[in-house]
Formats: sequence, C-alpha cells, structure tokens
Amino acid sequence: MHILAILLRSIKISKMHLIKIKKKIQKFNKVLTIEGDKSLSIRWALIASQSKYKSRSINLLLSEDVINTLKCLKKLGVKVKIFKKYCEINGVGLNGFQYKKNIILNAGNSGTLGRLIMGLLIHSKSSIKLIGDKSLSKRDFLRIIKPLKKFGAHFKSNSGKLPIIIKGTNNPKPISFDEMKGSAQVKSSLMLAALNTKGETIIKAKKSRNHSELLFKHLKLPIKVLRKKNYDLIKVKGKKEIPALNYKIPSDISSCAFFIVLTILTKNSKLKIRDVNINPSRIGILNILKLMGVKIRKTNLRDYKGEKIADLLIRSTKKIRAINCPPKLNSSAIDEFLLIFLVAAKAKGVSYFKNLSELNEKESPRLKWGSKILNEMGIKNILTNKSIKIYGNPNLDIKKKIIIKNFLKDHRVFMTSVIAALIFGGDWSIANKDAINTSFPTFLKKIKYLGAKIH
Ligand code: S3P
Repeated sequence: MHILAILLRSIKISKMHLIKIKKKIQKFNKVLTIEGDKSLSIRWALIASQSKYKSRSINLLLSEDVINTLKCLKKLGVKVKIFKKYCEINGVGLNGFQYKKNIILNAGNSGTLGRLIMGLLIHSKSSIKLIGDKSLSKRDFLRIIKPLKKFGAHFKSNSGKLPIIIKGTNNPKPISFDEMKGSAQVKSSLMLAALNTKGETIIKAKKSRNHSELLFKHLKLPIKVLRKKNYDLIKVKGKKEIPALNYKIPSDISSCAFFIVLTILTKNSKLKIRDVNINPSRIGILNILKLMGVKIRKTNLRDYKGEKIADLLIRSTKKIRAINCPPKLNSSAIDEFLLIFLVAAKAKGVSYFKNLSELNEKESPRLKWGSKILNEMGIKNILTNKSIKIYGNPNLDIKKKIIIKNFLKDHRVFMTSVIAALIFGGDWSIANKDAINTSFPTFLKKIKYLGAKIH
C-alpha cells in the first residue's frame, strides 16, 4: 500500500477511537456504584429551570446528554452552577426564558433533551432553531411536532427531522392527545408544555417510564394519573407556580444493565450494585431476566420522592432459558434489548422478541444492530423490521476476529459490544469509544475495575 494511504488509514482508525479486547473477563466479586439516572438528570434540569427558586441536585449524571441540557438552558437565560458535590439551577419561572434573537439550541445526541425541551418552548416569542448530531438528525420529531402544534406553536422542518425551527404562541390552548407509541419522551414533552398552558391538558398514554409524573406529584403540581390496564390517562393543569426541586439522583438501571449481564454470564462471579433506581416502569430487564431463569436479589429497598431504590445482588447463572418475550415488557426494557439479546444468545433454545419497531428509532437502528452483532458472533437469528428470533447456543465460545464500526456512535451499541467480547471471547476491535460519554463516561474505568483487559 502507498505510504500516504497507510498513514491516512491509521489516522482514520485512531480517529475512530478503537479499542481492542482479546480476552474474556476472569471471575470477579465486587461492589459498584453507578452514575446517576440520565432520564431523571435531564428532567431535573428542565423542571428546575421552570421554578423561580434555586434547586439543587446531588449525583447529577455529568454525561454529554446532560451537559448539553445545561448548555441549552444557559442559552435560554437560566443560571446553572456546577459545584464539586452538587449542581445548582436558578430557575426563571414559567415562561421566563430570556434569549437573543435566532438562537440555536444543540441537543447533541439526546432525543430526550431535543424532544422534552421543545415542550418548554411553545411560548417562544422569536424563532428558536434546534439542531443535533448526525444520529439525532436521522430521528423522528414529527411525534412531538404534531401534538405541540395543537397547543398553537409553529414549526418548520424537513419532514419532521432536525434542524427544526419553533416559534411559539402567546396564548397556548390545552389539548387532548392519544400517545400510542409508548414514548415517555413524547408524553413528557406534552406534560412540560401543559405546565405552561392555562387549562387542563389530557394525555392518553400507552405505558412508558413515569419519572415525569412522579416528579410532578412530588412537587404537588396539579396532575392526576388514572392507571388503566393498557394506558394511563394523565391530566395536567397549567400555570401553577413550580417550587424548588432538590433531588438526589439514584443510579441508572440502564447503565447497571451492562454489569448485570456481564456478571450473570461470567462463571463464578458476584456483584453488588448500590442505590439503583428500580422504578417498576424501568425494570423490564430484571423481569425478562427472571423469565430466563436469572435470580437477582434486591436488598435495602426504599422510597425516594416517589421513586423506588434498592441495592442489587447479582450472581452468575449457569442455565439460561429461552423465552417468548411478552411485548408488555418492551417499554420498561426499551434501552436494554441489545443486552437481553446477548443473554438470549447463551440460552438453550430459540427466543423470540416482537413488537419492537421502536428499537429502530433509537440513536442507531438498534434492532438491526442487535442482529448484526449476533451475526458477527455466529449466532443464527431471523430479523424483521419489528421482531427478532434468536437461536441460542449455551456453549458459544468465539474464536474469530470481529470488527464493530459505523454504528452512528450509538453508546449502547459500543458498550454492548464490549460486554459481548468479555463474555464470549474472540478478537474484537470496537470503534468510537468516546460514545460512552453520552450516557456513561466511567464505563470503561468500571469494566477495568472488574478485571477486564482492554487496549
Ligand atoms: C427516555 C425515553 C425512552 C428511552 C430514552 C430515554 C426518557 O425513549 O429510550 O433513552 O428519558 O424519556 P422513548 O420515550 O422515545 O421510547
């Protein structure tokens, strides 16, 4: 190869921030504390910005998605200070954002930030442009544009994709809306819009994570939630002053999930994870693993401002059962399916996961990526655009080279690939290690703490 081509190739590879894993992890017995929950961190900042008072959070996740949230709020005139032990927001009150003309808000990689913040902008007097990275720019925003238009806000976009320009209305009207996708982002965006709107907004929402509802209730805002079998009816009355929101953020179950799966599939290993948020709308992974024969103990159970918290005790599991995964568990495990597919790869028998088209709407098309990773691992699987059948192999032991790249820097694809390499062996090269900064900046440090060898 020409010398220049070799040089260019090596620059390209180093730019890809490649890591290499050539050895399975050895048995471990450790205790871990994992960073704060991403959904709660973003919600804390957005809601605190709407109070006229000073709010503090402890254990706020300082990942790129949350830092981008704080940056967007600063651009909107909110005072944010980060101290060693806590973060402080001096809110501007309802409809109190102050900003220059034609500002641009950059949501980076975060669908949660991009969609939720739109709900707070339905009053904006001048146009605000929302942009994001390559991954976010491929994602669907029509799901919030449609209902937010009903409040009276105006939008310009290219078929619901970023960049989007929003211009608000002086006089938003409360709406009734059926949220059919089971998207907590859509539901929460509308709830935030309802806070700023006189009258009662009614959302009929397919079940999804309920952190926003719990925070509203904790703040004693006028919210009613009627829980039906397949959906919740959420009623929010707007224009009530918002008190300070002081909050200690519990650990993110979605980040813990990587370590849970690593422990159950590594022989003779044990792990304790402290202070994990086990909100029932988030623990689909624990319920699905239970169906697969995995026992995880919860100790030190407590309530915190509406959320449930526990320490988790995890041990290796010898026999994994194949399952036909009940779709009613999908929404509570939506961010953990790539990992669940790895567990299914180790099961005896064929597992089936269906009604999962939303998985292809994430930071990358994750249902497709799940299948690609399994193909690389030599695990037979049948993929459609909303389901996957996985033919498990309890004796899987990979010997070949595997390269994982071009996955739109999806943090969960990167971290799942690391876990697969450490469990199943093989010679893995995984690109874009910086992707972890989106949700879990200390991921690789913690993996190394458990004994993994990563180059
Ligand atoms: C989130 C909701 C989920 C999830 C995302 C965070 C939230 O997305 O995938 O990582 O904080 O509300 P959808 O609500 O779009 O399913």
